[in-house]
Amino acid sequence: MDPNMCFLDIAQSRYTTKKYNSTKKIDNNIIEQLKEIIRLSPSSINSQPWKFTFVENEKVKNQLSEFSHYNSSKVKDASHVVVFSVFKDAEAFENMRLSQLSEGTSAYYNRVLKPKGDDHIMNWLTSQVYLSLGFFLSATASLGIDSTPMEGIEQSGYDTVLQDEGYKTLFAVAIGYRDDEDINQPNSTPKFRLEQDLVIRSI
Ligand SMILES: Cc1cc2nc3c(=O)[nH]c(=O)nc-3n(C[C@H](O)[C@H](O)[C@H](O)COP(=O)(O)O)c2cc1C
Repeated sequence: MDPNMCFLDIAQSRYTTKKYNSTKKIDNNIIEQLKEIIRLSPSSINSQPWKFTFVENEKVKNQLSEFSHYNSSKVKDASHVVVFSVFKDAEAFENMRLSQLSEGTSAYYNRVLKPKGDDHIMNWLTSQVYLSLGFFLSATASLGIDSTPMEGIEQSGYDTVLQDEGYKTLFAVAIGYRDDEDINQPNSTPKFRLEQDLVIRSI
């Protein structure tokens, strides 16, 4: 990363890549950095209710592309696809994760969250994984990697391909290098955001 690049520059220049250069692969040392960064994502009461599957294998990427609707070519052409999953239900979270967390965390979970019921718990677990998405998109951009967050996938199809007991797919992120012709680059498609006065309040 250019040492003079500040976070504002990253926010202004990162964008959702729509077309990848299928011949350019991300170096393994960058992939290893991204794995470590995503592992360090923050979460409420440090619950870490996630699994991040880094897919590089072309055969598996092709299988996932079949369940990727209009995102299919991004999944095929990107260097890697990272699938973000959450525990499939509250019981899986309790059985597989709770004992690995601190006593305070488990106590808080049992006292405050558990009584709110399974739907509330699943929403809460899912929110933590979405938070890690924001972290990941910023991290990729800071490393000069292009990315595409993708909710437009068939999650159950991804689950069938990945076969990860206890987890279910929420969304995926294609990562790699843009095709020069990608029309979504900010110089051809300027970034659209609402003005500050509509979304920021200072008191
Ligand atoms: C959770 C989430 C899901 C998204 N799903 C898709 C998707 O399936 N396919 C796609 O091309 N873009 C997808 N996007 C990209 C958004 O459309 C994009 O972030 C938004 O239009 C802002 O544009 P920018 O990222 O280029 O600044 C998704 C973004 C987020 C945050």
